[in-house]
Amino acid sequence: VLPPSIFTDRKNSRSVNIDIESELAPLEKEIQAFDGHYWQAGPIVDGVMHTDAAHDATLQRCTAPYDRSIDVGSVLFSTPEMIETALTSAHSYYEYWNNTEVDQRAQCLYNLADLLEENMPELIALCHQEAGKTIHDCIDEVREAVDFCRYYGQQAIYSLSFSEANVSFDNIIQEVRRKGKGVFVCISPWNFPLAIFLGQISAALVTGNTVIAKPAEQTSLIAARAVSLMLEAGFPEQAIHLLTGNGAEIGSALTSDTRIAGVVFTGSTNTAQAINRNLAKRDALPATFVAETGGQNAMIVDSTALPEQVVRDVVRSAFASAGQRCSALRVLFIQEDIAERVIELIKGAMKELSVGLPYLHSTDVGPVIDKAAKDKLTEHIQKMAKQNTLLAQVELNDSCSKGDFVPPTAIEIDHLGQLTEEQFGPILHIIRFKSSELEQVVDQINNTGFGLTMGIHSRNETTYTQIANSSRVGNCYINRDQVGAVVGVQPFGGQGLSGTGPKAGGPRYIHRFTKQVLNSVVM
Ligand code: SER
Repeated sequence: VLPPSIFTDRKNSRSVNIDIESELAPLEKEIQAFDGHYWQAGPIVDGVMHTDAAHDATLQRCTAPYDRSIDVGSVLFSTPEMIETALTSAHSYYEYWNNTEVDQRAQCLYNLADLLEENMPELIALCHQEAGKTIHDCIDEVREAVDFCRYYGQQAIYSLSFSEANVSFDNIIQEVRRKGKGVFVCISPWNFPLAIFLGQISAALVTGNTVIAKPAEQTSLIAARAVSLMLEAGFPEQAIHLLTGNGAEIGSALTSDTRIAGVVFTGSTNTAQAINRNLAKRDALPATFVAETGGQNAMIVDSTALPEQVVRDVVRSAFASAGQRCSALRVLFIQEDIAERVIELIKGAMKELSVGLPYLHSTDVGPVIDKAAKDKLTEHIQKMAKQNTLLAQVELNDSCSKGDFVPPTAIEIDHLGQLTEEQFGPILHIIRFKSSELEQVVDQINNTGFGLTMGIHSRNETTYTQIANSSRVGNCYINRDQVGAVVGVQPFGGQGLSGTGPKAGGPRYIHRFTKQVLNSVVM
């Protein structure tokens, strides 16, 4: 057993305080060096990135979500031949990679973490230009990616270097060790294009699996830059392949293949179910499937809560990252005794929100990811506003005219049944309840079938303990905001329709990527 220092010595990556001019100014200068930069991405198979359309493949233009007239780069889609080459290469290299020392694999992750920190300005530039994230979110994004690399590196050394059982006697030695399972397909979302992308991949690679990564179409440039840094960090060309392009086509080709040992997926519940069906149809035993999916996250506020604190936490949970976090607050339940006061304070706080260009450090809320997202959210707001009370909506200024912006909006609705699906954007629904209805509120939330995050604001310990115990969610946050889980500090993941577990950034997450092997040796 290793000394506990392996965990206590671990530090999260260094931060940048953008409220301090002497920290922000030099970083801003370095980020601005990438203004007008044109990135190119494409499939990276056996260490070679393909970027030109010579293969008859689709070449797609990438523009900035905050201004669609700005070209950020281009992405080449994978051809069926590239998918097959990646599968063959990852499959044949797995055994060699699985038999390398875990220290060597972890060292590649540590090198990658250092390279991510060194290249922070470029990665921030990419995150805000391609994904429209605010500077604050971009810094958090790179830090989370760095944390995943270091955390899973340490976890792997701790779990894979030593035998798990040593029942040895006389001349017989028994050892149980964890090894990788085979080829993992990592399918990641656009809302954490670097952190979740690298979190999935690093857990799979460090445990001895080889990886084929399929990034979200909207954020292929960041993904390709990250894979080029992985190769620079020492990961072998055959161990990590990137397949850019159409999600449905590539996803179904990969998840139907019997050479795949596992899939890690973050995205919608529907897509997770489709992947599960593909895996089940294969002429093979079930593959490992780790899915983090949607939510209908609620917060319950009772009359003992501190209104000012509630408002701060509601505004951050609902509107930070333009509500494009799977943890984000969608439905706020307020006990009627304090509802009027809290709603007035929320309206006031929303007036102070600055919506606009994501690279200005004064911006609180940037654009949403694309026009399809904007249209869907706008349609929902219009529909809800007709049937209910529109409490507040932030006015968009001229800087938002060229991009895909959705104004932060608060709507009062009558009951949870009015929401049939998750709205992945800056929309807060508010429902009032009577103190006698508290149990029913928890039941209604549980009955959605989703179970990702839940917020509770109450100064009554009995109340918040009861709510927490009867809620079927993965992450319950009491008297605080409900977004921004930190790697190794708040392991993250849901239950029910929200995910399979285990929790990302938590102990034993990497075990799901491993199998146990016993060697019983007569000496
Ligand atoms: N892990 C993120 C958060 O906690 C959501 O994906 O906000």
